[in-house]
Amino acid sequence: MKIVVIGGSGLIGSKVVGLLRAKGHEVLAASPNTGVNTITREGLAEALAGASVVVDVANSPSFEDKAVLEFFETAGRNLLAAEAAAGVGHHVALSVVGADRLPESGYMRAKMAQEKLVRISKVPFTILRSTQFFEFVGAITQSGTDGDTIRLSPALLQPVASDDVAMAIADAALRKPLNDIAELAGPEKIPLDELARLYLTAKEDRRRVIADVHARYFGTELDDRSLTPGAAPLLGAIRFEDWLRDSSARA
Ligand SMILES: NC(=O)c1ccc[n+]([C@@H]2O[C@H](COP(=O)([O-])OP(=O)(O)OC[C@H]3O[C@@H](n4cnc5c(N)ncnc54)[C@H](OP(=O)(O)O)[C@@H]3O)[C@@H](O)[C@H]2O)c1
Repeated sequence: MKIVVIGGSGLIGSKVVGLLRAKGHEVLAASPNTGVNTITREGLAEALAGASVVVDVANSPSFEDKAVLEFFETAGRNLLAAEAAAGVGHHVALSVVGADRLPESGYMRAKMAQEKLVRISKVPFTILRSTQFFEFVGAITQSGTDGDTIRLSPALLQPVASDDVAMAIADAALRKPLNDIAELAGPEKIPLDELARLYLTAKEDRRRVIADVHARYFGTELDDRSLTPGAAPLLGAIRFEDWLRDSSARA
């Protein structure tokens, strides 16, 4: 089966490409670096010719509110139109758990715009909403910097390893389209301030983390339900502290 992975050079994309190739599929890792651009449409029709499945795990180069919305709207429109023209049978998109609950966040609004384009297109689809990747915890921690301290919400997160995300996406690509949304989370719920303390300790960074219920997470306040999944999510197997220990040892 020919499978095109849009964003195939990224964190999740490169792992998905490896997993699907290992199963014997013809996989095209598509991104601007390989001459496929969903914004300019460069190389898009050629890349999709003969493809059965398209996996979209691209991300916007800018997270600024207007830029990120423009990215996901333009890329989504161009990609889904090209898929319909090429007769692609399954579009798999990666979104974020809680995107529908956080309209104050520009990034989440952009992900909802991306999801809407997928749902109204004629191409059969699966949307997988994932929680925050372990690899993103450093950036979240940094985003709370307030002078010499770090101020973060104590709301619960249920982060997941990128290896588990890639496995779930590769699995979805090989199944029938759900024409619906599934959720994926890690094995444990951890308050965000505590997650940051574990991260900083592993990095031997002595900055203090202050829990603040009003601290904003990329533009929005959080509660325990904001970023945690509903009743029956798929669950990744890798625990945050095991990942942290292994990734610190590798570094
Ligand atoms: N971070 C999290 O915690 C989290 C949680 C849930 C869901 N997600 C979602 O996961 C997805 C993947 O994230 P990631 O961290 O794996 O991304 P990433 O490592 O930043 O990779 C982004 C990919 O997008 C490609 N790309 C950028 N502009 C493009 C364009 N115009 N046309 C085609 N491809 C383009 C990049 O290609 P080049 O390398 O060629 O520039 C790269 O392959 C995103 O959609 C994000 O919303 C993230």
